Amino acid sequence: MILAIETSCDDTCAAVLAPDGLTALSNVVHTQTEHLRYGGVVPEVASRAHLERMDGVVAAALAEAGVGFGDIERVAVTVRPGLIGALLVGVSAAKGIAYARRLPLVPVNHLEGHVAAAYLARPDLEPPFVALIASGGHTALYHVARDRSMELLGETLDDAAGEALDKGARMLGLGFPGGPAISKAARTGDVAKYSFPVGLKDKKNLDFSFSGLKTSLLYKLKKMEPGEARGEVPDLAAGYEAAVVEALVRKLLRAAEARRAPSVVVAGGVAANALLRRTLEEKCHRRGLDLIVPPPELCTDNAAMIGAAAVRSRVLDFPDYLSVTARSV
Ligand code: KG4
Ligand code: ZN
Repeated sequence: MILAIETSCDDTCAAVLAPDGLTALSNVVHTQTEHLRYGGVVPEVASRAHLERMDGVVAAALAEAGVGFGDIERVAVTVRPGLIGALLVGVSAAKGIAYARRLPLVPVNHLEGHVAAAYLARPDLEPPFVALIASGGHTALYHVARDRSMELLGETLDDAAGEALDKGARMLGLGFPGGPAISKAARTGDVAKYSFPVGLKDKKNLDFSFSGLKTSLLYKLKKMEPGEARGEVPDLAAGYEAAVVEALVRKLLRAAEARRAPSVVVAGGVAANALLRRTLEEKCHRRGLDLIVPPPELCTDNAAMIGAAAVRSRVLDFPDYLSVTARSV
C-alpha cells in the first residue's frame, strides 16, 4: 500500500492507495476554513493549520482504508511547487513516517499529481495525451508522451485561471473561493451583455494571460454609478466566466491539434467548472477527441492523485531521502 500526503496549499490531505496506484482506498481532505475571513490563503496560517491537522488526517486516511501503519510499503509526498511552509509540514511528516518504519519515500511534483488524477479516473488511460491543469495557483498545458514523460507546452504569464476567478469574484463582492461563486452568479446572467478580452487569443503560442481580463472588469465597475453594479453582477459574472473558459478551451484544443493527441485531460480546481466541462464535452466530441475530466474530488487538491503519480516517480530508498526538502517553485 502507498500512503500519500499533500499539503502544498490550504488543504491537508492524506490517502491510501493499492500498490498499483490506480485504486484509492481512502482520500481524506481537510479544507482549512481559517482563510475564509481573509478572502484568500494566508501562507503562515496554512502552515500552522497543516501542523495541527496532519496527524488526524493521516489517522483518518488509514482508518477509512481499514489499514494500519504496518500495511504501508511506501510513502509519497508533494515536495513542490507550493507554499514553502505548507509543503514543509507534509514533507516532514512523510519523512518521519517513512524513516520510523524504514520505508522508501517518493517525492512527487504537485502538477504531475494533478495530471495523474486522470489515471485514477480512467485506469486504462494510456498516453499520449495533452493535459490542462487549471487551479488557483497554476495554469499550464502539458504533453504526456507514450513513455509518460511530461513536457510543458505553455503556461500563464500572470495570474492562474482560478486566481483570476477568485480576484474577479472579489471585485464583484462575491464569496471565496471565487470560481464556484462566479458560476453561481453567472447562472442568471446574460453572457453577451458585456464583452471581456480573451488573453493571447490570437497569439500562436500555448500560453495564457488573465491580467487584461481583470483590468477590464475593474474599469467596467469604475464606470458604473454607485449602486448600479449590484444589479449587473450576474451579467458581469457570466461574461467574465465565459472569457476565462474560452481562453482555456482555445489553447487546450490548439495543443491537442499541434500534438495530434487523441485524448485530452483537464484537472485542477477549475476543472470543476460546469461551463468549461460542457464546452469541452461538445468540442471534443465534434473533433473525435477523448475527453477525461476526473470527478471534482480528484480535480481539487487531494492526496490520492499524489499516490497515483508516485507509481511513475523516482523512489528513494531508506535512508537516502533525509536531505529531501520542499521547494516553492
Ligand atoms: O486545485 P485547487 O483546489 O487548489 C489549488 O491548487 O489552487 O483549485 C482551487 C481553484 C480556486 O481558484 C477556485 O476558485 C477554483 O479552483 N474553482 C473553480 C470551481 N471550483 C473551484 N473555478 C471555477 N468553477 C468551479 N466550479
Ligand atoms: Zn493544486
